[in-house]
Amino acid sequence: MRNKIVAGNWKMNKNLEETAALLATLSAKLPDTGAEVMVAPTFVNLPGAVRDLESSKIEVIAQNMHFAENGAYTGEISGSMLQSIGIDTVIIGHSERRAYFGETDEILAKKVTAALARGLRVMFCFGEELEDRKSDNHFAVVERQLKNALFSLDAGAWSKIILAYEPVWAIGTGETASPEQAQEMHAFIRKTITDTYGGSIADNVSILYGGSVKPGNASEIFSKPDVDGGLIGGASLVADDFIAIINAI
Ligand code: 13P
Repeated sequence: MRNKIVAGNWKMNKNLEETAALLATLSAKLPDTGAEVMVAPTFVNLPGAVRDLESSKIEVIAQNMHFAENGAYTGEISGSMLQSIGIDTVIIGHSERRAYFGETDEILAKKVTAALARGLRVMFCFGEELEDRKSDNHFAVVERQLKNALFSLDAGAWSKIILAYEPVWAIGTGETASPEQAQEMHAFIRKTITDTYGGSIADNVSILYGGSVKPGNASEIFSKPDVDGGLIGGASLVADDFIAIINAI
């Protein structure tokens, strides 16, 4: 059965001191909901976060990785480096990486393959832009993103995949997909996976929703049958808000 997951993507926020303070508050207040809870601080703060959360149930995950094992890629970080500091899960394909850093479906497929080859768990992000939804292309865009990055994988690889559907128009805008829009897309995603890999794999993959999830709207979104949790940006930077969203699961 698929897991419920609430993850905080801290993006490029929080320095060393602020990271330690937020982690301390989150570990002290973490409710036991049965859901997996994850946080993704910036790269420089990952080793400290792993140490700080050693005896906590919160998992520290990374926001990105390069597909190469090592080499002349100035400024980049590899999967094996992440594993060497105790990271087991990496976010790949965030829309900000696609939009601002030129990450194409082809690059993302290489990253996913490299992460899985190392035994990392992948939280794969995807989602349509506003124009795609307005022109009724949102299902086709999501299907293309999934197929190009994930549908060459062996069936066995899916036990290491978490999906995060994040419509770009809802990220950081305060405009959330309605619970019905989220459910409609999540059901479509599960059907698309069923068509290629069968119902058992589709039923067992956790599909998170991301995009302006707040304490006030989390319960309704999480109550939908195909929504297995959330990937939270802004609200995960405020301890009480993130705790309230965890409680909503
Ligand atoms: P917001 O929750 O700030 O909209 O960000 C969502 C997101 O991009 C998480 O990865």
